Amino acid sequence: MFIATRSVELSLCQTTDSCHTRQVVVGLVSFHVIFAKGRALFSLLAQADVVAGDFPGIDGFLGTRGSLMLDVVFLAMFVIVPVMGVSIYLVKYRRRYQLHKQIQLALAIVLLVAVTAFEIDMQWMTKWELRAVPSVYFNLERKWSCPVGISLIVHLLFAVPTAFLWIFVIVQAMRKFPNPIGPNEYSRQHVFWARLAAFEMLMTAITGWVFYTLAFVA
Ligand code: HEM
Repeated sequence: MFIATRSVELSLCQTTDSCHTRQVVVGLVSFHVIFAKGRALFSLLAQADVVAGDFPGIDGFLGTRGSLMLDVVFLAMFVIVPVMGVSIYLVKYRRRYQLHKQIQLALAIVLLVAVTAFEIDMQWMTKWELRAVPSVYFNLERKWSCPVGISLIVHLLFAVPTAFLWIFVIVQAMRKFPNPIGPNEYSRQHVFWARLAAFEMLMTAITGWVFYTLAFVA
């Protein structure tokens, strides 16, 4: 196609200037065609690998297309959310302040380790897009406007602020509550921000489960 377009273009050249301009335009169009074909080829190759079930990264254990860390985080949220609920119940109805503090700090450490391992997996080992290709809800060419992409954007809109909110709530609580722990003048502020943090964490889990199901189960 490139050669055919070029020979037509050469026969149309009248002056050196117009010829030069046309060569530049034809060059740009040809580059675009080659680039687009290259991308389509890449996606076909990716799909061929994917159909064979041969994904980069370590496969998970849930029998879906999820990677090891995707499966770990998917399951971990089923533990983290109820434990957080128990911790809030203990402080609200039983006034077990010390236990609430210990549980929240333990949860924060578990989350930090899980999120770090997850990020290492996602950035360097697993290409989630390739694992999502067989899903009827995913289209590699419209990665961010297909249902899987939209569900990931919604999930990230909760997950990213939640990470910062949790750090803020924990750092402030450690700084402002007395030792041994108990209510003080900071309580009202902690209750406000901590309830928001707990709600955000719940939404992070729910939207994460939706993304996982659409991308790696469907
Ligand atoms: C992100 C982590 C945390 C979350 C999500 C969280 C959640 C909550 C929630 C929702 C409440 C209010 C319960 C209610 O009355 O409705 C609460 C109360 C409380 N939290 Fe936390 N908490 C966290 C971390 C901490 C830490 C690290 C400490 C201690 C250093 C702490 C100490 C307290 C205390 C003392 C209260 C009772 C406040 C009062 O009623 O006077 N929290 N927490």
